[in-house]
Amino acid sequence: MPKPIRVAVTGAAGQICYSLLPRIANGAIFGKDQPVILQLLEVPFEKAQLALKGVAMELEDCAFPLLHGIVLTDKAEVAFKDANWCLLVGSKPRGPGMERADLLKDNGKIFIGQGAAIDAVAADDCRVAVVGNPCNTNCMIAANQAKRLPRSRFTAMTRLDQNRAVAQIAKKAGVPITAIHDLVIYGNHSPTMFPDFRNARINGVPVQQVITDEAWLKDTFVPTVGKRGAAIIEARGVSSATSAANALIDHVKALNTVGTALHSIALESDGSYGFAPGVWASVPVRTVAPGEYQVDKSFTHDDYAKSKIAATNAELVGERDTIKDLLK
Ligand code: NAD
Ligand code: LMR
Repeated sequence: MPKPIRVAVTGAAGQICYSLLPRIANGAIFGKDQPVILQLLEVPFEKAQLALKGVAMELEDCAFPLLHGIVLTDKAEVAFKDANWCLLVGSKPRGPGMERADLLKDNGKIFIGQGAAIDAVAADDCRVAVVGNPCNTNCMIAANQAKRLPRSRFTAMTRLDQNRAVAQIAKKAGVPITAIHDLVIYGNHSPTMFPDFRNARINGVPVQQVITDEAWLKDTFVPTVGKRGAAIIEARGVSSATSAANALIDHVKALNTVGTALHSIALESDGSYGFAPGVWASVPVRTVAPGEYQVDKSFTHDDYAKSKIAATNAELVGERDTIKDLLK
C-alpha cells in the first residue's frame, strides 16, 4: 500500500465538510488504494472545536480502512503541515438576498493567513483548492502569499457550476449526463459566469443543433446556472453542501487524473480568452500530468459569448480592486 497522503481541510465542522470528509476517507478522491491522513482546521471557539471532535468521532466510527489518521486543530500551521492537498472550505456562507461578493470583506482576510501558512509548511507538491466564497478572489488572496509554491498550484472551484450546466442541458435534451461534453464555465463563480453552450456537444453534435431554442439557451439556461446557488439558498435556507462537496471531489479528481475530459477550474489568468492577467478566472483546462493542467486555448467565441466573458471579467477586476489592500 502507498504511503498516506496528507489532506488538509478547513471549515471541517461545517456543512460542506460533513458530506466531503467521509468521501475523502473512503477513497472517492484519491483512489481505493491510497491511504489518507485528514488534517482538519476549525476556528478556535469551543463550540466549533467540540463540533469538530464530533465529526472526527463519526469518521472513526465509519472504520474506513484508508483513513490512517485524523489531526484536529485550530492552528493553520498544524493543519497545513506537510499537506499534499489543502482544501479551503472554511469561511462564512451567504444568506438569502446576498451576493457572494458581499462576503469579501469578512472572508478575504482568512485567506491571507492561510495562504502564508500553506506556503510556509505544506509539502513541496502541495495543491490548493479554494471553495470558500467568493472563491475566485479568495484564491487570488491566498496565492498572493506564495513565495515558495508556484501560483499555478492555487485553483478555485467552478466545477459545481459546470456540473449544474451539464445537468440542465442533459435534462432539456432528454439525454444521459454522459452524453454532454466540453461544457465549460468561463469567469467568476457568480451570476456573471458564462456556461459556454456554444462550444459544447451532445453525443458529439453541437448543443445548438439539438436544442434549437436559442432563447431558452440564452434567457433560461445561462441565468439558471448562474443563479442556482441562490435558488438553493432560497429553498433550503442554507447554501448548497452535498453538491458542493461532490464538485470539490470532481475538481480534485479531474486535476489528479491524466486523460480526464475537458473541465473548468478558476486559475490565474495569463490573458487567455480576454481575462485580465492576474485575476482568477474559470477557463477550460486539460490535465496533462497528475496535479498539472494546461489551459485549452483552442475555443473561439462569437460576439454574444465575448460580451458575456467581458462582463464576468469586469466583475473579477472589480473584486480585485475592492480587496487591493489584502494583496500588499
Ligand atoms: P458552514 O458555515 O456550514 O461551514 C463553514 C465552516 O467554516 C464553519 O464551521 C466555520 O466555523 C468554519 N470557518 C470559518 N472561518 C474559518 C477559518 N478561518 N478557518 C477554519 N474554519 C473556518 O458553511 P459551508 O456551507 O460549509 O460553506 C463554506 C463556504 O463554501 C462558504 O463560503 C460558501 O459560500 C462556500 N461555497 C462555495 C461553493 C463553490 O461552488 N465555490 C459552493 C458551496 C459553498
Ligand atoms: C453555490 O453556488 O451553491 C455556492 O457558491 C453557495 C452560494 O452562496 O451560492
